[in-house]
Amino acid sequence: MIRFEQVTKRYPDGTTAVDGLSFEVAEGELVTLVGPSGCGKTTTMMMVNRLVEPTSGRVLVDGRDIAGTDPVALRRKIGYVIQQVGLFPHRTVLDNTATVPALLGWKKAAARARAAELLELVGLDPAVHGPRYPAQLSGGQRQRVGVARALAADPPVLLMDEPFGAVDPVVRERLQNEFLALQATVRKTVLLVTHDIEEAVRMGDRMAVYGQGRIEQFDTPATVLAAPATPYVADFVGGDRALKRLAVTPLTADDLEPLPDGGAPDGGTGGTRARTDTGGTARTTVPLGGSLKDALALLLQDDSGRLTVTGPDGRPAGVLTPAGVHRALRRASPERVQALSGEDPPDRA
Ligand SMILES: Nc1ncnc2c1ncn2[C@@H]1O[C@H](COP(=O)(O)OP(=O)(O)OP(=O)(O)O)[C@@H](O)[C@H]1O
Ligand SMILES: [Mg+2]
Repeated sequence: MIRFEQVTKRYPDGTTAVDGLSFEVAEGELVTLVGPSGCGKTTTMMMVNRLVEPTSGRVLVDGRDIAGTDPVALRRKIGYVIQQVGLFPHRTVLDNTATVPALLGWKKAAARARAAELLELVGLDPAVHGPRYPAQLSGGQRQRVGVARALAADPPVLLMDEPFGAVDPVVRERLQNEFLALQATVRKTVLLVTHDIEEAVRMGDRMAVYGQGRIEQFDTPATVLAAPATPYVADFVGGDRALKRLAVTPLTADDLEPLPDGGAPDGGTGGTRARTDTGGTARTTVPLGGSLKDALALLLQDDSGRLTVTGPDGRPAGVLTPAGVHRALRRASPERVQALSGEDPPDRA
């Protein structure tokens, strides 16, 4: 859907903002761009809607080189949430949200109806918040309006530049979850810029880790965390990457121990291990496919040290223990992930 081919941007003063960038974003995919301040994230994003023109290389949207397209027509297909939200201070929230439909020539009533619908979609009440001015909203509410405005013309592509940057961690996580739920239904092709590694990992189907003007690694969060491509990436994702990996490693049947037979005592293999009064099966449950992070959090809260894992049919599929968590992390070890990603197969290296 979006394709960069050897794209370089040099600004007139000689700053090389990005240098030889190549990557592709599939339709319906959410790719996060993460890296330190000034590494070229916003520049990359603005080359997708032609607010910035590449010095060399090509950017393709929907298979077409956008250098040959009308920028106005192009931007119609691309929603844009700019850094610092960028709401018009002297327009109401409703009119801010209706900006693009209005620009597209919709009738005022239709544009406002659409805006009201969008405000509801992002969890704001059009009757309460619609008539207010941006200054009369909280930071998190302003960011929701930014997202609503970008979605207003129902564009297939969404560019989001630090969309949840200006809020505290709790609100940020809520906005992230809301957006992910929204994305599960609207399935836009999304480029999301952040300098927060946690956000990049949580939100991205894949993530691009930027060094200075270059992409150091472009892969799924699980692979980036398990197998950083360069020392720079390893350093950037942090020494606690094993912990971060918990959030992106799903529980599989291989990680589980069998259910105790109808609550009967073990068949004599394990001696006299102390058991809980729940017949060896913990009360809290997590589903197969859920994240190890959630599972571990529950495991730590439960005195039994065991967690019942449910299968797709909702019935208990097995039991997770701390040893199972350990096995799961080893399963997603760097070597294994590299082999799974199909790159650099060990037997042919
Ligand atoms: N119009 C411009 N003229 C000259 N240099 C620019 C211009 N815009 C950006 N730059 C430079 O290009 C580099 C990349 O900037 P960019 O805005 O893409 O970074 P960023 O990764 O989005 O950073 P941040 O996380 O701080 O938003 C920086 O060194 C910046 O100073
Ligand atoms: Mg930026």
